[in-house]
Amino acid sequence: TLRLSQTLPVSTAKVGKTSLIMTLVSEEFPDEVPLRAEEITIPADVTPERVPTHIVDYSEAEQSDEQLFQEISKANVICIVYSVNNKKSIDKASYVLGYRVPLILVGNKSDLVEHSSMETILPIMNQYSEIETCVECSAKNLKNISELFYYAQKAVLHPTGPLYCPEEKE
Ligand code: GTP
Ligand code: MG
Repeated sequence: TLRLSQTLPVSTAKVGKTSLIMTLVSEEFPDEVPLRAEEITIPADVTPERVPTHIVDYSEAEQSDEQLFQEISKANVICIVYSVNNKKSIDKASYVLGYRVPLILVGNKSDLVEHSSMETILPIMNQYSEIETCVECSAKNLKNISELFYYAQKAVLHPTGPLYCPEEKE
């Protein structure tokens, strides 16, 4: 039985992790957000793949590395959020590599730039096979928000990566 219980957005500060979660839940962009969103479970019947989805935010200011790794070990999929107008914000992706958890690379704040960050992202995607997919979105413009969570569900239910390659499992 496949359980989709945890989705964990994690990344550097101020990239919009909390805003993305709150925008998904309320369907509007909140002007002010707490450092960390409360854990929520989206009921199965309102998710695209019909599985209950538990979403866990991460705040560097409020949580230790140990707490982060504990959450990572419980997660079925991790959304690594960076800000498309801040290339340095993708560096922390390395934090969560090697955990055999499918990853989604999320480029938030697409409303602030004209050009896509895909050129920067592609080499990373090619280097790390656990990255299932990438998506550019904007919490502010409500762009690709539901898509992002759909991709996260899909990465758990229908994984494509070599994470699940039989040779690797032996
Ligand atoms: P920490 O928890 O402090 O690490 O930050 P975070 O990653 O949770 O980011 P947060 O949601 O607190 O947002 C940081 C700032 O970016 C806030 O001022 C948000 O209003 C702003 N922000 C979030 N998403 C977007 C977006 O899509 N576009 C724009 N222009 N601003 C955004
Ligand atoms: Mg936050």
